[in-house]
Amino acid sequence: MKRITAFLLCIISLLCLLGTFVPAQAAQGPKLLALTFDDGPSKYTDKLLDGLKERGAKATFFMVGSNVNAYPETVKRMKKEGHQLATHTMSHANLALSSVDNIKSEVFGVNDRINAIVGDGKYYLRPPYGSYNDTVKRTVMTPIIYWSVDTEDWKSRNTQSVYNKIMNTARDGDIILLHDLYLTSVEGALKAVDSLQQQGYVFVTVEQLLRRRGIVPTDGTVYFDAPNRGINLPGVVAPVIATRNTILGKKVIIGRYSPSDHVFYTADGQKPGTKSEQYTKSYYIREEQTVQAVSVGESELSEISKEHLTPEAVVSKNDLDKLFYYFRSTFLAKEQKFVIGMKI
Ligand code: NI
Repeated sequence: MKRITAFLLCIISLLCLLGTFVPAQAAQGPKLLALTFDDGPSKYTDKLLDGLKERGAKATFFMVGSNVNAYPETVKRMKKEGHQLATHTMSHANLALSSVDNIKSEVFGVNDRINAIVGDGKYYLRPPYGSYNDTVKRTVMTPIIYWSVDTEDWKSRNTQSVYNKIMNTARDGDIILLHDLYLTSVEGALKAVDSLQQQGYVFVTVEQLLRRRGIVPTDGTVYFDAPNRGINLPGVVAPVIATRNTILGKKVIIGRYSPSDHVFYTADGQKPGTKSEQYTKSYYIREEQTVQAVSVGESELSEISKEHLTPEAVVSKNDLDKLFYYFRSTFLAKEQKFVIGMKI
């Protein structure tokens, strides 16, 4: 819990700091959409993951407990490929009609199962039937994600209808409701991704959508969409370097925005890159040192190339190096200097 709190504090301070560094043109940036799939995983989810991977698109999966149990390999794959894992309760319960104890076991039960498969994480909630009340909001200890586009894919079970619904209604910042229980939903969604990418849309997870629109998700708050209201942050965020004094000495902690981000650092004054030491956990320092770190979202590499390079440009490893965001902290006896949000 402490770790999570520290992490959140890092992120909140990072967002505050970013506010002063975001260039004016950032408000323009790409149009973003979040595809969300409820009720799975199912036997069609791997096909969906194949399609998303091919297109460099990310999605969010609101999963029910029984299907998490039935498809652990698919859950692992979602995480590995940079999608957002989220909960849709153990038994697709109507939470507004449930007791506090039942709300807890329905929501935390799925969290425990996902944790058992992929390690600790924070899982947003989509309440089944979109049904919630104040008790649900107070109890779930996670942001609640509604939607702004309802494809009604479960009703039509028709690829063309799913496609049309998305194409006719989806606008920048929308959260699109789908179900990965039907092949027609998978095919309709992928077809829409193809068309919308042509129009310049970038498909991100709900977490990324909120973050890039400057929204700090709060437990118990309901989010419907995140249109561009003047804040449109880039896909990669600099890591945050901090120190903590412990009984055994001073510890360096590097915070990353997303658990799927990779962080590399140096402590010898050299500029960090992907060949530097990879950060996995906090460590002690015995003497003054300059720590520099870069972060890159492996899952976002394709997105970076689309956003930051002209369409004709071929992404080489060198190009990618330039796109890293980095953060530098110099730990001196009494002062800490830092630079944040610089492109290198
Ligand atoms: Ni559902």
